[in-house]
Amino acid sequence: MKQTAIVLCGLPGAGKSTWAEENAQHLGAVVVTTDEIRTEHKDPKRAINAALARVRHHLKAGSSVIVDVCALRRLDRGMWRTAARVAGVPTRLVVFATDLETCRARDATRPAGIRYSGNWEASAGYLDEVLASRARGEGFDSVEIVGKGKR
Ligand SMILES: Nc1ncnc2c1ncn2[C@@H]1O[C@H](COP(=O)(O)OP(=O)(O)OP(=O)(O)O)[C@@H](O)[C@H]1O
Ligand SMILES: [Mg+2]
Repeated sequence: MKQTAIVLCGLPGAGKSTWAEENAQHLGAVVVTTDEIRTEHKDPKRAINAALARVRHHLKAGSSVIVDVCALRRLDRGMWRTAARVAGVPTRLVVFATDLETCRARDATRPAGIRYSGNWEASAGYLDEVLASRARGEGFDSVEIVGKGKR
């Protein structure tokens, strides 16, 4: 299968890690996530830099990678896309349209220590932007939207 960097984008609880787990094998891809930021209370910047280093390493080694992150802001998506471009690997953006209400309800069932502590409304605003623009002009080779609305 052709080497690809697949960047996931969606709210906490949208189903990104589930999708990554379900698709990694048939895509022949390694999953790189920053989900440990919440469980291990790591310094987010360090965790993101460590994930970036892992993505670069696997791309350089010839593996496809699923980047399992929220990537809600254009700037965040650009960081992963640039890493792929530098490695000469095509990029695919998968946006999870799972609605705010569903994501909040799922997150609320998680243990207190790992629930999302950021701003849901602001995050939902970023998601609306990427859903409206379909990330046009961001340089991804393909963009797809999954999990529309409630599911
Ligand atoms: N397609 C789906 N339909 C119904 N439930 C789902 C679906 N995908 C994931 N879930 C459930 O939603 C919850 C959150 O899923 P998951 O951990 O994959 O989200 P996430 O996007 O990785 O969240 P986070 O950004 O917080 O890591 C899990 O309980 C999972 O079982
Ligand atoms: Mg996850």
